[in-house]
Amino acid sequence: MAKKIYLDNAATTPIDPAVLEVMMPYLTDFFGNPSSIHSHGRKVKSAIENARKTVASVLNTSPGEIFFTSGGTEADNTALTQSVETLGVKHIISSRLEHHAVLHTLDHLEKAGKVTVSYLENDEKGVLDVDSIPSLLEQNPHSMISLMHGNNEIANLLDLQKVSEMARARGAVFHSDTVQTMGHYTFDLQQLPIDFIVGAAHKFHGPKGVGFLYINARNKILPFIHGGAQERNMRGGTENLYGIIGLARALELANSHLEEHQRHVKGLKSKMIGLLKERIPEVRFNGRSEDVENSLYTVLNVSFPEHRDNEMLLFNLDIEGVSCSGGSACSSGTNQGSHVLNALNLDGSRANVRFSFSRFTTEEEINHAVDILQKIFGAA
Ligand SMILES: Cc1ncc(COP(=O)(O)O)c(C=O)c1O
Repeated sequence: MAKKIYLDNAATTPIDPAVLEVMMPYLTDFFGNPSSIHSHGRKVKSAIENARKTVASVLNTSPGEIFFTSGGTEADNTALTQSVETLGVKHIISSRLEHHAVLHTLDHLEKAGKVTVSYLENDEKGVLDVDSIPSLLEQNPHSMISLMHGNNEIANLLDLQKVSEMARARGAVFHSDTVQTMGHYTFDLQQLPIDFIVGAAHKFHGPKGVGFLYINARNKILPFIHGGAQERNMRGGTENLYGIIGLARALELANSHLEEHQRHVKGLKSKMIGLLKERIPEVRFNGRSEDVENSLYTVLNVSFPEHRDNEMLLFNLDIEGVSCSGGSACSSGTNQGSHVLNALNLDGSRANVRFSFSRFTTEEEINHAVDILQKIFGAA
């Protein structure tokens, strides 16, 4: 059987064996409940607090601002609902290109009559009209901004510093969905005046079902899951102990070799762009993903020319052993198309495929994937 090629790292990444290694003892020997006051409990409680310190130190912030969650979705939901319910936000500025973790929460808050939402305009490359933010903020007191840092489908990046400063200068709250960029870029929260950012461990070679929410200490929040006193009374429920241990190690590993990973993955992305342009006539790239230096370097969204088998493209790639995605992985299977690509008004006769890479992707895999694509598109 042909070797499988995994090019869907924006959906999830394989766990790093070095991460699994530090998790294992917490699935076996160290099984105590972190809330127990005996030694079994104290041992694992201190492991959680060390993990929190690790995350805080990578982000150059304090551990008291890090809350572990079940992943990116919970963290995004919490940032938005806490802003409305405890910080008095009445108006939210966002975009049509956000992940459903944000868009569906906005719909819910709007339908409940709690907020109004303004969506920024975008062009056909998905570039947002961020310059309209200052006037929107001036017209709407008690606003927040919720804009993602790196788009999971088309790889567009937001200038976080610029938008943070716009928000701070006008007293607005700023949340950024950083799920795709956490572990892939450096964050220095002493320099970045932002209120909420998020992480999901499985996007940076950690385990699934665990993430975190950074809440800037200037925001006084209320419990968001009611129950026990975990997460400093804010999120009740026995902690995902081994997940938290894995998350911290994965973030530490990602961060400690960041430049090397960036160089490797950018090299692969440039290589794939070059080969596709050479070998597939009329190939194009969606969003800003072709601009390797100024886009999320782990994602390449390719627009393939009209072909009789385009409807079957992902299926045919899968048969050939190449796993990739036709849109956001979280929505694949619903068959409604991608809301992000729809917002770009793309030519419907072309096929759009997202290839996404990780530090474990090899040049050989890229070459092989392009050979398969050439075979598919070479056949009349
Ligand atoms: C940009 C973005 N935000 C949020 C999420 C949700 O993260 P999780 O599945 O860990 O809840 C994802 C996952 O694909 C994502 O890509």
